Amino acid sequence: MSETPKYAVMGNPVSHSKSPLIHSLFAEQCGIVLEYRAIHVDEGRFESAVRQFRAIGGKGLNITVPFKMAAWRLSDRRSTRAELAGAVNTLKFLDSGKIYGENTDGAGLIQDIVVNLGRSVKESSVLVIGAGGAVRGLLGPLLEAGPAIVHIANRTAAKALELSAVFSGFGPCTASGLNEIGSASYDIVINGTAASLQGDVPDLPTSIFTEDTLAYDLMYASKATAFLVWADENGAAQCSDGLGMLVEQAAESFQIWHGIRPQTAGIIRQLR
Ligand code: ATR
Repeated sequence: MSETPKYAVMGNPVSHSKSPLIHSLFAEQCGIVLEYRAIHVDEGRFESAVRQFRAIGGKGLNITVPFKMAAWRLSDRRSTRAELAGAVNTLKFLDSGKIYGENTDGAGLIQDIVVNLGRSVKESSVLVIGAGGAVRGLLGPLLEAGPAIVHIANRTAAKALELSAVFSGFGPCTASGLNEIGSASYDIVINGTAASLQGDVPDLPTSIFTEDTLAYDLMYASKATAFLVWADENGAAQCSDGLGMLVEQAAESFQIWHGIRPQTAGIIRQLR
């Protein structure tokens, strides 16, 4: 068995994942020798795939769709953020035999918005569109960043209301259906829906944008997502896809495993 510490990302599909490239660039930068690969896991096989990876010397895993909730269940210990998110994207295998679960998605988003894009979340008004797993994972860190208000708007209003009930203890948080948001405008608008995957744009009024609004799509693709094209055409001042968040959440995972946070700006540029 090779002595090189083994890491991987598990998902389905996973072949498109940029995580192996990002983690090898981080390792090179930090002078750490490691192996990091993408592992395709069939539905229903997640737990056994994790155990098998550990048995061959695996030290940690990133987890992507559709296994983040299964990873949460498999974790013996979780951070408060992961606990609340109900989803885990980073597993660390502890020497004690236990598994530690963390969710670095929200921290990665905040880092990208504040440091890379130079926007303040503190005192800002934030509209979050969507109420699925992706949004649930980022609400804790978003509210911790001290916004004036976070409004969650979702096609199915009940899901948005459910999330705001869970998170309202952490900061000012309201919710509604997409068609109930009125004429309010926001400093930051985050698209956390799966609509961009189908080339769709959530049905929202363009009055959400001002000449200072940052429009952010959690998705990334080789060209601007449907949401970002729409935001740009309808008055958003600044538009960003989720590539920076992807690199930043990876840096957070890297720190959990190796105790050092790599520099990210050069790597985001390189990936573009
Ligand atoms: P994820 O884990 O990626 O967040 P999910 O849990 O399936 O995926 O959630 C998908 C989100 O995208 C939901 O908020 C969904 O809205 P509903 O709760 O009403 O289903 C939203 N969504 C998907 N397609 C959409 C579309 N075409 N327009 C608006 N919202 C959409």
